[in-house]
Amino acid sequence: MQQKIIILDFGSQTTQLIGRRIRELDTFCEIVPYNKFPYDDPSVIGVILSGSPFSVYDQEAFKVDLSAIRGKYPILGICYGAQYMSYIYGGKVEPAGSREYGRANLDYIDKSNPLFKDFDDNSQVWMSHGDTITAIPDGFKTIASTHKVEYAAYQAVDELLWGVQFHPEVFHSVQGTLLLKNFVVDICGSRQDWSPANFVEQTIAEIRKEVGDDHVILGLSGGVDSSVCAVLLNKAIGKNLTCIFVDHGMLRKNEFQEVLNDYKVLGLNVIGVDASERFFGDLAGVSDPEQKRKIIGRDFVEVFNAEAKKITNAKWLAQGTIYPDRIESLNITGKVIKSHHNVGGLPKEMNLRLCEPLKWLFKDEVRRVGRQLGMPEHLITRHPFPGPGLAVRILGDITREKVQILQEADDIYIRSLREYKVRLSGEDARKLLAAGVPNTMKNGEMEVSLYDQIWQAGAVLLSTVRSVGVMGDERTYEHPVALRAVTSRDAMTADWAHLPYDFMAKVSNEIINKVKGVNRVCYDISSKPPATIEWE
Ligand code: XMP
Repeated sequence: MQQKIIILDFGSQTTQLIGRRIRELDTFCEIVPYNKFPYDDPSVIGVILSGSPFSVYDQEAFKVDLSAIRGKYPILGICYGAQYMSYIYGGKVEPAGSREYGRANLDYIDKSNPLFKDFDDNSQVWMSHGDTITAIPDGFKTIASTHKVEYAAYQAVDELLWGVQFHPEVFHSVQGTLLLKNFVVDICGSRQDWSPANFVEQTIAEIRKEVGDDHVILGLSGGVDSSVCAVLLNKAIGKNLTCIFVDHGMLRKNEFQEVLNDYKVLGLNVIGVDASERFFGDLAGVSDPEQKRKIIGRDFVEVFNAEAKKITNAKWLAQGTIYPDRIESLNITGKVIKSHHNVGGLPKEMNLRLCEPLKWLFKDEVRRVGRQLGMPEHLITRHPFPGPGLAVRILGDITREKVQILQEADDIYIRSLREYKVRLSGEDARKLLAAGVPNTMKNGEMEVSLYDQIWQAGAVLLSTVRSVGVMGDERTYEHPVALRAVTSRDAMTADWAHLPYDFMAKVSNEIINKVKGVNRVCYDISSKPPATIEWE
């Protein structure tokens, strides 16, 4: 049976990061809302309580009865998780005199404690809390302190229950992964057998068992998730899979043909549908970002459904849904920032069942699985691209002409990112190799493209703006293009990429010289939050 760690989510921004760290220890884990513990699941080997934006004494703070968990599984509380357990078991939590935020060193560590096995003296940790534990419950002992935080870590004596007020999951906690390994492997007894090869083997067997000889339809987008999903299904059920790839006319330059070709080479049974006429028609004159998204979402579903209905013997709809799409995250504000669209709302009469083989994977794991399946590297490392395509990268209304201008500028930009090489060494290089990126080190260094170093990049056409320029002896009055490139791990937060100046100079020159209709290039230096990755 696949062992699993359960992470109870109390709403912290770093909950997903805890999940990823556990997976990096080749251990399966599941993130569930704080009050949805799977009491009947025999595969659980340990429990982690996440942080939270609340204080334990806030009216609206998330509270849960741990009595059926304490004593049955090893437990590790992180930040709020540690404070919450201290609070409910009779300790004291109070607002910290000053917010304890940033790097700190553990100047006392009980190195005989299994949680701190192999720890260095003074190990650096990352603190981020407004409250602090001022007294631990009777029967608990302190196992680490910092200069400012006496109860940086505790254990309930003779019990497998720990709390740490720092965040072992973040990079700045230098031995954070070691702490999680001590908990997951030594204390909970993980066999560390969660790997892409295991995943592929197990999932193919499960798909065959579940789907049998039924026919499956899948919507392809050109992105890594749906592509890996298709190849996995193809391996499992071959000809019984039909893929549909809809072109709404706002993909990147030549993307529809190129990707369609890739799919055919991979042996997939794909139907390519050029529906661009319809999308451009329905979008004519519409400038409002949300309205554009809604029209594209609606048209997409209708075009997809019309194709799907032709496959009369289909019983299943497969989707490349991945774990972060599904985590029932505790949305504290409840606000919708942008409406995303996915294939959905298939006609009820088709009565299709849902097959989502990647639903437990994080993005980097999907890529590892893609490599395991032998997919070409350019499909695996492809940047994420929004469903509505270039429509959300053109400010103002959409026309074929504007899309063409943007396609040209974007093509120069992306091509240049692929061509520009940078040298990596040390930890950065090691991480890429560990992820299975085919590359080799020479003299302690390896060469990667700028494209592979960033999460996502694209050009944006500011078609509602015009500015004056001069070309030769001619005055121009045309649109600017904004370039966007961000680094990120999951698109929830992102930082603008610090691209080299010589690269930017070259790209700007090439775009202005070659793309008619553009006379100025800007670089977007906003991070998310407060901005978002896409402009609309
Ligand atoms: P934002 O702009 O919200 O984007 O920071 C976060 C990530 O989501 C992608 N994105 C979308 N993906 N359908 C999608 O499939 C959409 O409607 C959509 N809108 C944004 C975006 O490219 C980024 O990776």
